[in-house]
Amino acid sequence: MKKDLLSIGDLTKNDIIDILDLTKKVKANKSKYADALKGSSIGLIFQKPSNRTRVSFEIGMVQLGGYAVYLGPNEIDMGGRESAKDIACVLSRYLSGIVARTYEHKDIKELAKHATVPVINGLSDFAHPCQALSDIFTIREHFGSLKNLTLAYIGDGNNVLNSLICASAKIGLNIKVATPRGYEPNKEVIYLAKLFSKGSGSALQFSHSPEAVAMGADVLYTDVWVSMGHEDEAKKRMKAFKAFQINDNILGLAKKECIVMHCLPAHRGQEISDSVIDSCNSVVYDQAENRMHVEKAILLKLLK
Ligand code: CP
Ligand code: NVA
Repeated sequence: MKKDLLSIGDLTKNDIIDILDLTKKVKANKSKYADALKGSSIGLIFQKPSNRTRVSFEIGMVQLGGYAVYLGPNEIDMGGRESAKDIACVLSRYLSGIVARTYEHKDIKELAKHATVPVINGLSDFAHPCQALSDIFTIREHFGSLKNLTLAYIGDGNNVLNSLICASAKIGLNIKVATPRGYEPNKEVIYLAKLFSKGSGSALQFSHSPEAVAMGADVLYTDVWVSMGHEDEAKKRMKAFKAFQINDNILGLAKKECIVMHCLPAHRGQEISDSVIDSCNSVVYDQAENRMHVEKAILLKLLK
């Protein structure tokens, strides 16, 4: 049966460990996997702009000996020119897999329901699982293990945070979250994470105080205050998030050897100061690079 990756909930703890371990191998030995997906192809259905997700999947697929075709909003106008069902059924006749970036998560679910090939979520309003898996990989790579580490996320309760919470809770990484009131992560995600954490031992904390969560953190993480699709709320959000910037004060509260993460694109001067994103604690470019290695591992797991 085909397997999809629509959210972290599709993976067990062991699936996540397998992906992390395979990523390590793929990253260390690029040539060994040069023909691993020879003759395979993926389509990238993107309703929103992308740098990292598009390029890392396209180039990752080429590095595995396969082919990738980008299908932007001008080619595939999902729901306008054609239904998600018709797109999924037709593309399944041409391709070995589909990566989709949609506004609404239900559109990715609809694609997956009708596609006979694996569907991978390249970001929706609800989740960004490839980002979270890659971030967990980066943390493990940096510290050598995930044991006794705490990630402090400061900012919007958005797609990236939803996936980070689930991935952390499944794998056993402690996570402390500070969002402004009214911008908390998805309630169902919090409920599920509490269940997952019982099995993994991950400690979870949800608050509204950036200082409290930053205190003693091993990882400081943030993302934009205005995600794609929420541009009309920008003014209101700027006010609500004012006190939620990762800056030198916040960095000073975390462990000295902490790492600073951001999925990018960053709005420098808003959610993160230049001084912090450019500091020696910042690993944002390692994070971006690892997207490709992790996605190669995901493609190998789902398409082979
Ligand atoms: N982090 C991330 O997904 O970046 P893009 O939006 O550029 O793909
Ligand atoms: N939360 C951001 C992530 C971009 C990679 C967005 O959805 O726009």
